Amino acid sequence: MEQQQNRRILLVDDNESIHADFRKVLQTDSALTAAVESAAASIFDEPVARRAPVAGFEIDSAYQGEEALARVLKSVERARPYALVFVDVRMPPGWNGVETVRRIWQVDSHLQVVICTAYSDYSWPEMIDELGESDSFVILKKPFDNIEVRQLASALVVKWSLAQQARRTMCDLQAVVRKQTRAVQSAHEETIYRLVRASLCRDAETGAHIRRTGLCSELLAASAGWPAERVDQIRLAAPMHDVGKIGIPDAILRKPAALTSDEYSTLRDHTILGARMLAGSTSPILRMAQEIAQCHHERWDGTGYPSGLAGEQIPEAARIVAIVDVYDAITHDRVYRKGLPESEVQKLMLAGRGTQFDPRLLDVFMSLLPEMQAIAQSIPDENGEEVLPEWCSTLSSL
Ligand SMILES: [Fe+2]
Ligand SMILES: [Fe+2]
Repeated sequence: MEQQQNRRILLVDDNESIHADFRKVLQTDSALTAAVESAAASIFDEPVARRAPVAGFEIDSAYQGEEALARVLKSVERARPYALVFVDVRMPPGWNGVETVRRIWQVDSHLQVVICTAYSDYSWPEMIDELGESDSFVILKKPFDNIEVRQLASALVVKWSLAQQARRTMCDLQAVVRKQTRAVQSAHEETIYRLVRASLCRDAETGAHIRRTGLCSELLAASAGWPAERVDQIRLAAPMHDVGKIGIPDAILRKPAALTSDEYSTLRDHTILGARMLAGSTSPILRMAQEIAQCHHERWDGTGYPSGLAGEQIPEAARIVAIVDVYDAITHDRVYRKGLPESEVQKLMLAGRGTQFDPRLLDVFMSLLPEMQAIAQSIPDENGEEVLPEWCSTLSSL
């Protein structure tokens, strides 16, 4: 780690002799090592074993705040930032030290700073007022002690490197978490699609219809102002709207003729069966899926099923899926009919405004028709999947 450590230091002081003093202290490793060792020996009252000299510092000088800012800017542009800046407080005629620090932090907020000051210059609260509460600056009182200067420099460049390492680690971890989250989400999504498709394999619904319903519901929800988290949820919840059909007998689901009214009534139970299948989960996706399964055949005017809910009594997710589901059904070919041309689709959808569909959501939906068509084109029906029984030929049975 030592080899990678950034040991670049910028000295900012209007007094040239101070630069010479700092360089003497920071660049003479052997003298320093001896000084540190003799200080340690006097503290512990015993000889201290000699250690290998530490690496030197790379030192630049600036004599005014403006020049310091220019050097920091250049160091950032060259991706060779300073780790530490020693800044004098009084530097006439230019910016004082506090102003200089404020400006260089705007360019490089990771810089460690030592503000060199006499007692009379600034109080600590005044500096906090100017620079804000930060663990990136310390005050060094004049006159300086050489050992203290060296210790500060050594400690603060290490601190800079550790902070940078922590930021990199955090970035790496966030990238890993994002990648894992995407993997889990896509596995989750695929599981839902496959299970829904399996549950509908006796029905004529296609995998493509399931996917389109999810994506079109997502688009409509997002455009209706839903928060991003709920928008994600409806993409996964909407495809489950008809899972209750798994509980409808084949004799009805696949009947190649018109259904009797009793058979219709049984078919309509797929809403209640689906809601029961999905009930009791703590997952927000499954709770939304339950609402959708239960209510996607309710109508805005209260004449739908199974409960005859009206208007905003119908959960918004179900109102969205009701629009998308009908749109998808009438725009795609079925064995009993061709998909309708766009002009008729628009007419038919608008005819349901305020009766079958939530008028506000339908208006948003109509403004999204080009995007909806693009989704439809990107996920065409697979060949050979479409075998719908005759009862599907009326809009009301969708
Ligand atoms: Fe349905
Ligand atoms: Fe559907």
